[in-house]
Amino acid sequence: MKIPLEGKTIVITGASSGIGEATAHACAKAGMRCIVTARREDRLKHVCLKLGDNSTYVVGDVTEKGFNQHLLNEAGDVYAIFANAGHGLNQKLVDYDINKFKELFNLNVFSAIELASLASKQMVAQKKGHIILNASCLSKFSVQRNSAYCGSKAALEAISKSMRMELKKSKVFVSTVHPIGTKTEFFKESSTRSGTAFSDFEQNTPAWLMQPPEKVAKAVIKCLQKPKPEVWTSLSMRLISVAFSVLQR
Ligand SMILES: NC(=O)c1ccc[n+]([C@@H]2O[C@H](COP(=O)([O-])OP(=O)(O)OC[C@H]3O[C@@H](n4cnc5c(N)ncnc54)[C@H](OP(=O)(O)O)[C@@H]3O)[C@@H](O)[C@H]2O)c1
Repeated sequence: MKIPLEGKTIVITGASSGIGEATAHACAKAGMRCIVTARREDRLKHVCLKLGDNSTYVVGDVTEKGFNQHLLNEAGDVYAIFANAGHGLNQKLVDYDINKFKELFNLNVFSAIELASLASKQMVAQKKGHIILNASCLSKFSVQRNSAYCGSKAALEAISKSMRMELKKSKVFVSTVHPIGTKTEFFKESSTRSGTAFSDFEQNTPAWLMQPPEKVAKAVIKCLQKPKPEVWTSLSMRLISVAFSVLQR
């Protein structure tokens, strides 16, 4: 049986573009009230125009102290969160600036886990809720020049597994999403941040490994309706990830 989504509230981080924006639209279409957040107010305003009257936005940096609590206070009665805000770093480990490494972990791991932890308190009390964390197919195996990114997504996945076990009795679901390459601003943003002219990942990724953000959004809706631990949007990449974990070398 599908869980009805109409009237339920979801908090979506990183909703000013890409996967977060597409997911907000899909959730609103499914009848959910969306509380969307990111730093760019003009973009959030634009996203919100298509979300319906009961949805709203909260502007801010999810890595800033106190912001996640403020976000949940503004949201009120929350059924689900989609911790999606994240960025990449396209550099060799020998060239890494440790501050950039820490900045990436702050966003991709610590802020997402903080939001999940804060939201879980309300969800446990209500004995219902769904925490969805946007990881990546790269949480399962690493590629060169992306060690910080792969490490952050692997950490997010590992932490979510413990959380899933801890929250099971309270009927709070925990899911991770594992998108393949998705056509968003992600690659441009990562290369700007890394000081490289372009993202070699985007340049070298075959077309069959790239998808539109709407595909991820659709998979998130399915997961909200029928919760499962892991959400994959590409069967071939799912099989490759299993092969990688079996044949470690
Ligand atoms: N694109 C891919 O190939 C791919 C594949 C697998 C997984 N993912 C994951 O998908 C998630 C979304 O990425 P995307 O592809 O949709 O890229 P995107 O279009 O660049 O979206 C990133 C979002 O995060 C927000 N954000 C970044 N830093 C933030 C901060 N400090 N505080 C608040 N919001 C912040 C950005 O908004 P503002 O700049 O307005 O704050 C933006 O809305 C990321 O976690 C990424 O790792 C992406």
